[in-house]
Amino acid sequence: MTEPEPSAARPAAPVRVGLLGCGNVGAALVGLVETRREAIAARSGVDLEITRVAVRSLTRDRGVKLADGVLTTDAAAVVADPEVDVVVEVIGGIEPARELILDAIAAGKPVITANKELLANHGAELAAAADEKGVDLLFEAAVAGGIPIIRPLRESLAGEDVTRVMGIVNGTTNFILTRMTEEGTTYAEALAEAQSLGYAERDPTADVEGYDAGAKAAIIASLAFGTRVVAGDVYHEGISSITAADIASAASLDHVIKLLAVCERLEGPDGAEVAVRVHPAMVPVQHPLAGVRESFNAVFVEGTAVGDLMFYGRGAGGDPTGSAVLGDLVDAAVNLHKGAHATIGMGGRAQIRPIDDQQSPFYLSIDVVDRPGVLRSIAEVFERHGVSIRSLEQEGIGDAARIVMITHRAREADLQATVTDLRDLPTVHRVGSIIRVVGAEG
Ligand code: HSE
Repeated sequence: MTEPEPSAARPAAPVRVGLLGCGNVGAALVGLVETRREAIAARSGVDLEITRVAVRSLTRDRGVKLADGVLTTDAAAVVADPEVDVVVEVIGGIEPARELILDAIAAGKPVITANKELLANHGAELAAAADEKGVDLLFEAAVAGGIPIIRPLRESLAGEDVTRVMGIVNGTTNFILTRMTEEGTTYAEALAEAQSLGYAERDPTADVEGYDAGAKAAIIASLAFGTRVVAGDVYHEGISSITAADIASAASLDHVIKLLAVCERLEGPDGAEVAVRVHPAMVPVQHPLAGVRESFNAVFVEGTAVGDLMFYGRGAGGDPTGSAVLGDLVDAAVNLHKGAHATIGMGGRAQIRPIDDQQSPFYLSIDVVDRPGVLRSIAEVFERHGVSIRSLEQEGIGDAARIVMITHRAREADLQATVTDLRDLPTVHRVGSIIRVVGAEG
């Protein structure tokens, strides 16, 4: 018996899209709507039409075909236009994006945004406005570009007890660390290459110092744990102080160094707490995140029932990010026809565990005088602060020695106190890099 052919859905009236911003992502979206329009209509029954596009300059060539009169410099007019049913915001930054999105919601228009900075700082305000008005606020593109991670966290894993999410969510830093690891390039050389390839901005601070990953971590933690986390809650350290020696040490210990966003749900004395941090981490080579190379992103989710999951792909770039926006757009358009909307389900403000009380194993390198008794004096400092040593290796460098060690799980504050006391020891020349170890806790 042959299966009957599914009948193609008949497209209803076009859903008219007002696009705010037409840079990399906006231009890719325009192209994707053009090439995918018929297939989307056949599959979903919605016919998407880019009706108005707000840009800063009318003369810049964006490589997209738009009918006369579609482009305008007046973003507020696009939002208010009665011929616009859905608003897509890809301008970035806090204002005027926040104001424009709130206006669109107030006008009863669903909003799709890729704006991580805005969501990580004002997400609750936008979500409350969207819920009150009964319209969609969708933002798949805000975290990890083309990788579907928001919808899985928000919908597929809505009933799951998610305990930890770890992400490589910044492509620029992953590219730099990959070059340093695989080609032996210095940090400065790898950064220059990332800039020449267009991955890193001319001012790469947001990428290399962990702010970009921190905003994404706040959004991930909010959805994973159903509680509100903002950018200011995220502890962050960047990769600018990672050296070739750190990379080599990691390799000799069968680890690689990655910039990780780590979001954990923990039990505190007064109930659930959330720990969110971004920092370079030593990841064992066997861990799936260790194999995420170049500018790729990945998000590793740990849940009680589901076990381990990993989402992998392109975290930036016009087409991958445009694809994520397009998926949201189809969803919002279908919902609009049905008179339905998705709820974000963000709970109250999270109880944040301060960095001092967070725990992990640590890698340390300590340059010392090479003579009898030195190791014992160092071990005593660790013992005094309750930090247990898991493994230790020593190599001679002239009449000095370098001790490389990994601790068992230790409280940040205890580790910092240990380091302070180590620096006071007359036999210690220098305490070098201190890097958290993630993915092989014990
Ligand atoms: N600059 C980011 C990255 C992409 O390098 O991954 C946008 O979030």
